Amino acid sequence: MLLGKDRVLGIDIGSSSIKLVELEQYGSAYQLRSIGEAPLPPDSIVNKAIARSEVVSHTLSTLIDDLEIEADDAAISISGDPVLIKRVSLPKMSDAELKKSITWELEQSISGGIKEVNYDYQVIPGKSTRDNIDVLIVAANKNATKDYISLVTGVGLNPVIVDLDVFSLESMYEVNYPDSEGLLALINIGASVTNINIMENGESVFARDLPIGGNKYTHLIMAEMDLTYEESEEVKHTQRVGLTDPGLKQFAHKFIDSLCFEIKETLDFFSTTHCNEKLQRIMIGGGSSSIPGLKDALSEITHCYVGVLNPFRKIVYSEGAFDPEYIEDLSPKMNVAIGLALRKP
Ligand SMILES: Nc1ncnc2c1ncn2[C@@H]1O[C@H](COP(=O)(O)OP(=O)(O)OP(=O)(O)O)[C@@H](O)[C@H]1O
Ligand SMILES: [Mg+2]
Repeated sequence: MLLGKDRVLGIDIGSSSIKLVELEQYGSAYQLRSIGEAPLPPDSIVNKAIARSEVVSHTLSTLIDDLEIEADDAAISISGDPVLIKRVSLPKMSDAELKKSITWELEQSISGGIKEVNYDYQVIPGKSTRDNIDVLIVAANKNATKDYISLVTGVGLNPVIVDLDVFSLESMYEVNYPDSEGLLALINIGASVTNINIMENGESVFARDLPIGGNKYTHLIMAEMDLTYEESEEVKHTQRVGLTDPGLKQFAHKFIDSLCFEIKETLDFFSTTHCNEKLQRIMIGGGSSSIPGLKDALSEITHCYVGVLNPFRKIVYSEGAFDPEYIEDLSPKMNVAIGLALRKP
């Protein structure tokens, strides 16, 4: 059993809510220890930068107290605007030359230059030819990252892992779907960002964050039905089992069409530039994946099977301690937080 220092609290700071998950490991099995979500006012996180740190900090510390969290260490992740993810193909070269080339690539892509980011890169296994190597580069804005770290230290936790949402998704997937093979896309549709991670035989070969999510749908409802943000969110949630209002159905389709179009463009870009194999499966998650009609529309436009991610597939929980209906309700939004809670310090 992993106890104390080996356990990290997964904290997913989303633009619509903060999600927390704490797991306990028994051999290769995982058990849920704590889980919870607390909503954030709409202007707290703007373009995935922390805009109102006191509000976000208060929401986080209240949630930690309510859930009686005992962990000292936390894993967090960032996404969207502060993050750059790029796949490049380069001629075969030495490690030192590769480092220089990556620096050059980043200088070209980041307006303020490389000094503004923390970055890392990885040669994609199995993708190198005799003459070329494919590399996945990730960079995160230093100021934005610092704000997320300060938030966590401010509530008395050690941020031992700072990941990206797209890769937390992958950590969640590896544990819950251990025998996954072939080419598949994990797509997490949140409030302001859609994270896409394309995996081939268990390895990430492409990743991207699209600046679109359920907020776009909320804003459509606000404008067309003359409602506040809170009222529009309420409308989205109460209509979850089926869209009966014809007006609402129209806004949902408008949102679904634009989202599916952007996802398809990204998948097509990947196919034309990096891979001519056919995608075998798309697995969706994130709060906005629950919008009725979205799954079928995505399947239709991509001509691909679309399934729903279950972050609790291999995680057990006591039904006495957690109401299964509550877990089922939270499940789509918990992919990133569970991926983070699965990380080792
Ligand atoms: N049942 C539902 N039907 C429609 N939309 C829903 C439903 N449940 C949640 N949503 C929407 O999902 C979004 C929240 O999802 P999620 O928690 O994954 O996002 P987030 O992590 O806060 O945001 P991001 O990662 O983009 O910063 C909101 O836009 C919310 O309105
Ligand atoms: Mg999110």
